[in-house]
Amino acid sequence: MEASSVVNPRAMDPGDLVLRGGRVFDPAAARPLDQVADVRISGGRIVEIGRGLVGGRIIDVKDLWVVPGLIDLHVHLREPGQEYKEDIETGTRAAASGGFTTICCMPNTRPVNDQRTVTELIVRRAREVGAVRVRPIGAITQNLEGKILADIADMKEGGIVAISDDGRPVMNAGLMRRAFEYARTFDLPVVQHAEDLDLSEGGAMNEGAVSTRIGIRGQPACAESAMVARDLEIVEWTGARYHVAHVSTARTVALVRDAKRRGLPVTCEVTPHHLALTDEACSHYDTRTKVMPPLRTAADQEALLEGLVDGTIDAIATDHAPHSPVEKDVEFECAAPGMLGLETALPIILDFVRMGTLDDKRAISAFTGGPARAFGLPGGGLTVGAVADICVIDPERPVTISSEGLSSKSKNTPFLGQAMAGRAVLTLVEGRPVFDLDSRFR
Ligand code: DOR
Ligand code: ZN
Repeated sequence: MEASSVVNPRAMDPGDLVLRGGRVFDPAAARPLDQVADVRISGGRIVEIGRGLVGGRIIDVKDLWVVPGLIDLHVHLREPGQEYKEDIETGTRAAASGGFTTICCMPNTRPVNDQRTVTELIVRRAREVGAVRVRPIGAITQNLEGKILADIADMKEGGIVAISDDGRPVMNAGLMRRAFEYARTFDLPVVQHAEDLDLSEGGAMNEGAVSTRIGIRGQPACAESAMVARDLEIVEWTGARYHVAHVSTARTVALVRDAKRRGLPVTCEVTPHHLALTDEACSHYDTRTKVMPPLRTAADQEALLEGLVDGTIDAIATDHAPHSPVEKDVEFECAAPGMLGLETALPIILDFVRMGTLDDKRAISAFTGGPARAFGLPGGGLTVGAVADICVIDPERPVTISSEGLSSKSKNTPFLGQAMAGRAVLTLVEGRPVFDLDSRFR
């Protein structure tokens, strides 16, 4: 196994097993799979897919979906440095409970992951206490200050899979050009938190009718798209891989769609909360609805869904951003931005599937093969011979998000108390159960 592919060693190894009679569903594969079948697992790998399989323990998954383990390209684990919000153990447990088997963690920790020692610390901690695979993202600039490039080559040796100053954009275009050129030599995607700080300055939510009505200063949608437009010019110049984090506006979707049409190496992600909520959710000054980029308008929301449906948007990523009451139980303008995502993502997205606005193939692709390809990660498929990272979903299972039910240390989600349906019931990493809602392995 690669150094940065970490699995909780304490998870029990059940030996050989057969997942029996589920809907084996891998829509993002080169040869898409969708059939009722058994999946046989041995030595941590998928060794056979077919009917009437035997060999080892039989796990009944009738009426459930057996899909590749979900991959989240955008998670804040807060370790090192802010373990009162989340740590690698609780964050990866939340991931396992959400059906994720691989998560990429953002470098805005304390200290920042801008050097190999920090990268290696995260990789080591994840190996010791992590329930799922953790793939660190390194900083683009030292201490996220936007001034001097971080030692990207060295962090790559330590196991980073991408670079980003997430939480902040790289404002300096010349520096961004050098980051692109440097990253290209390592074939690393550069992940931009697209926000022109001169345009967004002082804005705590989306600028529009709602911000005017409730008297909170807004930031315009063009703060995001202006930055993406600038970056795309530099991508065209350098040929580097570019990934737009948490796309939130219609204009950004249009820009990415056009760039892809022109053949540029561009990918992007959308969060479940930008798909499910609009700036109307901020009307009551609930700081749990404060995120960066902010929740936008219904028109933006519609464009995001369209972009996900037509493949402009490659991945659903949570931007899981745990915060404690210290950061959230304050005035809206002073609150830290961010909401939890790992344990709400699947129920939120399966709601769109049930409503018929998103088909199940696109939904699962954007959680699996889509993100795997965007970052060039292994996994994300259910082929024979593949490592058995698997998520078993009950698409009809009622879920009510409650603070006691969350594995995350923080509770900052506006979805608390909301009744939804559809969730992961079993998560396997390398054939081992890291989450088992109904005790199938007991
Ligand atoms: O809402 C957000 N929270 N957006 C970001 O870009 C950063 C993140 C965090 O670190 O809390
Ligand atoms: Zn961000």
